[in-house]
Amino acid sequence: MRFKSRSTSNKEIKERRKFIKQLGLISAIPFAAPIIKTNWFESIGPYTINASHNKRTVQDESYWENIRKGFVLHPEIINLNNGSTCSHSIDVQNELSQYDRKFNEIPHYMRKTVYEAYAKDELRKKLANLAGCSPEELAICRNTTEALETVIFGLNLEKGDEIITTQLDYPTMLNTLYQREKRDGIVLNKINIPILPKSTDEIVELFSKAISKRTKIILISHMTYVTGQILPVKEICDLAHQHGIDVIVDGAHSFAHIDFKISDLHCDYFGTSLHKWLCAPFGTGLLYVKNDIIKNIWPLFAAPPNFRSDNIRKFEYLGTRSFATELAINSSIDLHNAIGPQTKEKRLRYLKNYWMEKIRNFAGVRLYTSSDEKQSCGIASFSIDGFEYAAIHEQLLNKYNIYTLDLKHTSAQGIRVSPNIYTTLGELDEFVNAIKEITK
Ligand SMILES: Cc1ncc(COP(=O)(O)O)c(C=O)c1O
Repeated sequence: MRFKSRSTSNKEIKERRKFIKQLGLISAIPFAAPIIKTNWFESIGPYTINASHNKRTVQDESYWENIRKGFVLHPEIINLNNGSTCSHSIDVQNELSQYDRKFNEIPHYMRKTVYEAYAKDELRKKLANLAGCSPEELAICRNTTEALETVIFGLNLEKGDEIITTQLDYPTMLNTLYQREKRDGIVLNKINIPILPKSTDEIVELFSKAISKRTKIILISHMTYVTGQILPVKEICDLAHQHGIDVIVDGAHSFAHIDFKISDLHCDYFGTSLHKWLCAPFGTGLLYVKNDIIKNIWPLFAAPPNFRSDNIRKFEYLGTRSFATELAINSSIDLHNAIGPQTKEKRLRYLKNYWMEKIRNFAGVRLYTSSDEKQSCGIASFSIDGFEYAAIHEQLLNKYNIYTLDLKHTSAQGIRVSPNIYTTLGELDEFVNAIKEITK
C-alpha cells in the first residue's frame, strides 16, 4: 500500500482552514477565558441572591422547576439514585465539550498553556474555597476511591498497628484495608454502629471504647452509603486526636450535600467524588490532606522529584486523562454557589422528609434512617416486611420506571432513595404511589 505524501500544498491548507472556519471551530473560545453561561444560569443567580435561605426558596416549586430546566433528564425515568451519580447541568456539559474541542484543535495547549500553567490552579483555588481548606491542601483526582486509596496505601504503618472503621463504611475502602491487613499485617477493628442510633453520642461512645494503644488511624464515612446516617465526625476527630490518632473521612455523600467546611470537621484526610452531589462531570474527585502531614503520605503514583515532599500536587501524577473533564468542575461549583449550599441542604432534606413521612405508616415499612436533622439529610433507606429488597427494586424499575438503589448490606437490606435538586414533588408522589401499590 502506498501512502500519500505528507507535504500539504498551500491550496490544501487554505481549503482546510476555510472548512474549519465554516464549522466555527477556531477562535470560538479563547483559552482559559470564562465559559459563557446559558441564559438558564443567568436566570437562577439573582433569585437566590435576593432570597434569604428560607422556607420560601426551599419550598418554592417554580424555583426548583427552573433549576430542573438546566439539566437534560430522560422524560420517562425517575432517578432516585443520585447517591451513585448525579446528572450534570447543560452548562457543565458545555464547558466540558468546549475544552475538549479546544484540546482536540490545538493539542500542545492542553498540557502546558491551559491545564498545568493556568486553569488547574485557578480551579484548585475555587474548589478549596468551596471546600474550606487551603489550595495547598487540595489535590484534584478522579473519585473518592482514588482519593482515599492514596491515603490508605500511602500511610506508613507497621505490623500490629491498628485501624478502626465501621461495618457501614464503603466496601472499596474496606477492601483497601483488608489488603493492607494481608500485606503488611496491620490489624483491622471493624465496629458495628447501630442502624437508627438514639443519638450521635452513642456512636462517639463506641469509638471511645474501641480505641487502644495500638490504634493509629480511624476511617469513617461522614454520611454512610447504607442509610445516609450522618456521623459526628468532629467529635470523633477530637476524641482521636486526644490519643494521637489521625482520622480519614470518606465524604463521598456529604460534600456539596450538607453545608459544611472541611475545616469544621477537624479531620486529617478527606476524600470525595465531585460527580456525586456537586453534579460535576463523571470521574472527578478531591483529596484533602492537612498541611503538616502531606509529607508523611507516599503518593500512589510515583511523583518527581521527591515522594516525601509537602507539595499536594505530588498526588496528581496520574498520567494522561480527560483534562477537559477536570476543568469543567468549574461550572458545577458555579451552580452550587448560585443555589447556595444552605438552601441546597435544606431542599434535599425537604425532599427526603416529603416521601419518607408519606410511606412511614404503610404496612410493613421499616425506615432505616432517622428524621433528626443532625443525623440525616437527602438520603434515606427502608425495607418492607415480607418483600425481598431485590424484588422491590426490580418492580420499581421495570413497572414504574423508578431507579433506586437495591441495598444488600448485612445490617440493612432494602431500598435506598436519594432525590436531587432536579427531582420534582410529582416524581416523589409517583414513587410513594408505587410503594403504596406494592405494599397493598
Ligand atoms: C461512602 C462511599 N465512599 C466511596 C464511594 C466510591 O465512590 P467512587 O466510585 O466515586 O469512587 C462511594 C460510592 O458510592 C460511597 O458511597
